[in-house]
Amino acid sequence: MMSNKTALITGATGGLGKEFVKVFAGNGINLILVGRNPQKLQTLRNSVQKRYGIKVNSIAVDFTNDDAAETIYNETKKLGVQVDYLVNNAGLGGQGTFLERSFDQDINMAKVNMMVPTKLMKLFLPDMVNRNAGRVLNVSSSAALIPGPLQAEYYATKAYFTSLSNAVWYELKDTDVSVTALMPGAMDTGFAKAGGLTDTKMFANGVSPKKVAEEGYEAMLKGKMNVFAGLPGWQRPFVGLMPMMPKKATMGFVASQQSTNK
Ligand SMILES: NC(=O)c1ccc[n+]([C@@H]2O[C@H](COP(=O)([O-])OP(=O)(O)OC[C@H]3O[C@@H](n4cnc5c(N)ncnc54)[C@H](OP(=O)(O)O)[C@@H]3O)[C@@H](O)[C@H]2O)c1
Repeated sequence: MMSNKTALITGATGGLGKEFVKVFAGNGINLILVGRNPQKLQTLRNSVQKRYGIKVNSIAVDFTNDDAAETIYNETKKLGVQVDYLVNNAGLGGQGTFLERSFDQDINMAKVNMMVPTKLMKLFLPDMVNRNAGRVLNVSSSAALIPGPLQAEYYATKAYFTSLSNAVWYELKDTDVSVTALMPGAMDTGFAKAGGLTDTKMFANGVSPKKVAEEGYEAMLKGKMNVFAGLPGWQRPFVGLMPMMPKKATMGFVASQQSTNK
């Protein structure tokens, strides 16, 4: 089943990103893969093209570069490709207390998790609104719902991302353009290793990102505002009850889950 639509996926060579690639490609949607590593992108591009017979382009860019979002937007214009689906998936965590982590680490995380995706929305949404067609899928996290001691900044970046996504979803509600916030629980991807979180209770039973990508894709197509996906057993009721729970107790639990002394 081929389509003439194109999805741009950031963090395409990561754990959840690769699953998004399979879901979109499996639905015949052409792809623009965005990542940091040109070799990884090329390998993924070749295998996806071969397996699914779709058009695949790639853009190598590090989101800590100041002009990352503009580079991506300008490259898509040069390619002459219309982006119908923007998947803001790239992101990173980082274990440690606020004082243990450096301000450079904070800035880099803010760029990757907040500033670049925000700028990508600023650049691509006007084109979608002009066409009155388009979908944005923002990969936030169930971490958006509470403050997260031992990953304070990560939780704050995801709270920002969900809040921004929901407000823009509302502003666009009378159009056929939507912004969906996807909020997974702990997944078995490269995320824990990249953020120094492998030795924590939180990541002892991370779920496969496959179902998360599928549920995110379906919710995005329907123009849903929020979707929670891939929450393992104990996280499901916890997330539902979160707003009613005392914040200090919740933070104590999160801290215990993110402590490296398993
Ligand atoms: N895994 C979880 O438990 C979990 C839970 C909730 C939400 N999430 C969210 O899910 C999304 C995908 O993460 P994942 O679980 O698939 O982790 P992952 O396997 O580590 O993938 C993260 C992706 O982000 C990209 N990235 C990181 N820093 C970047 C930078 N400076 N510039 C450009 N790209 C950068 C990585 O690029 P490279 O391939 O070049 O390294 C990678 O493709 C993230 O937004 C994350 O916050 C993850």
